[in-house]
Amino acid sequence: CNVVINLRDDAGLKKALVVAGTRPEIIKLSRVLSALSRRDIPYNFIYVGQHRDYEMSSQFIQELKLPVYTYKVLPSKLITPASQTAHIMTSVERSIVQLEPSLVIVQGDTNTTLAASIAAAKQPVPIAHIEAGLRSYDWRMPEEHNRRMVDHISTLLFAPTRRSGWNLFKECVIGATFITGNTVIDSVIHYLPVAQRYSKIMDEIRYDEYILATFHRAENVDNPSFLADLMDVMKELPLPVIFPIHPRTLKRLREYGLMKRLKNLSHKVQVLPPLGYFDFLVAMKNCHLIMTDSGGVQEEATAPGIRKMTVVVRKSTERPEAIEAGYAKLAGVEKEKILEAIHISLKMLPPNGSSPFGDGNASEIIASIINDFLLGGKTSRDFYKTFINRKPNR
Ligand code: UD1
Ligand code: UDP
Repeated sequence: CNVVINLRDDAGLKKALVVAGTRPEIIKLSRVLSALSRRDIPYNFIYVGQHRDYEMSSQFIQELKLPVYTYKVLPSKLITPASQTAHIMTSVERSIVQLEPSLVIVQGDTNTTLAASIAAAKQPVPIAHIEAGLRSYDWRMPEEHNRRMVDHISTLLFAPTRRSGWNLFKECVIGATFITGNTVIDSVIHYLPVAQRYSKIMDEIRYDEYILATFHRAENVDNPSFLADLMDVMKELPLPVIFPIHPRTLKRLREYGLMKRLKNLSHKVQVLPPLGYFDFLVAMKNCHLIMTDSGGVQEEATAPGIRKMTVVVRKSTERPEAIEAGYAKLAGVEKEKILEAIHISLKMLPPNGSSPFGDGNASEIIASIINDFLLGGKTSRDFYKTFINRKPNR
């Protein structure tokens, strides 16, 4: 690819700004923050409050003991995606002006990820994108727009797998790509033993054998007929369901008048508020099967210590590695297809091998590259020169 690079001189710049705004970003960045601290890399971690409920934000920051420099809550009147994105963008811009970072670190594909990246690019400050290169090729998804835009304005791209690295290569991104593994595996490996010691969730869960269900994708839950079908699926499932409800899904169930149907299933569907991370890990560990449209949950289900079959209730996935490795089935969103996938998956054992998303070293690899970038005297130009293909140690 022929690209013209016009960067400012990075010599002498040192500090990173790490930005999170939603539940999965907090979880996936937590081990990265630890790895940065272990290397004495200076950083500020700011929370910009796209997710504002305690159960979706502070609960994780407290549980994982993250060092938050500023914690902001998005005004609840910002209900459109553009107003939300714009507010986060100007808020991150203020932090960049105040803190003068040399690198802005973002995670994933949320509106926060996009907003923080645009704010950085406009200053300009180089961007490090963790979990770069995922592609669902599903243009209905706001996440697909976000991740593509962020990948193309980032300087450092941390692709979790060879496939995601290859996606970036095919698209001729300007920044340097590193294949690192996904930091979510680091989180599971680190926190699962702690979770098993402290979580009391199994005292609350009414069933010995259950399917764990989570749903929140806009293209699913913003569709009343999807939610109505989901109620029917749950009614017909051979096992009871534990259903920690995402606030978006709860809001839609109320708006579409489906709460009564959910309550009528209370004999076999136990509805819970969004769980803390330790509780959710333990609920995953003890379930028979996972039924989800979550991205992070698809990955976590392949982690050592969890290893569960997952039925992905979506038309597409940007994480086909879990399917190829034998952990997941892409069921689609039709009632009969979902039930069929669940019946098949319940008879299957998850593979005994390693996770396709890495072996728990992703945060260390990422921190070491960031260290080189910030402190090793290398300039952005050096990082642009080569496509560096680093795979996780397996
Ligand atoms: C966002 C991300 C999605 C990610 C998910 C993780 C985007 C475009 N989407 O989706 O990629 O998988 O987070 O959970 O960034 N709400 C609350 N309280 C909260 C959070 C949400 O009430 O703490 C309700 C609000 O009505 C809000 C709606 O959920 O309008 C949607 O929240 P939003 O953050 O816009 O998107 P998510 O669906 O959470
Ligand atoms: N999670 C949690 N409690 C819950 C549901 C999910 O702690 O009740 C965690 C889960 O372990 C995973 C992350 O939240 O690490 C996934 O977030 P989510 O599904 O909201 O977003 P996505 O991964 O789809 O972007």
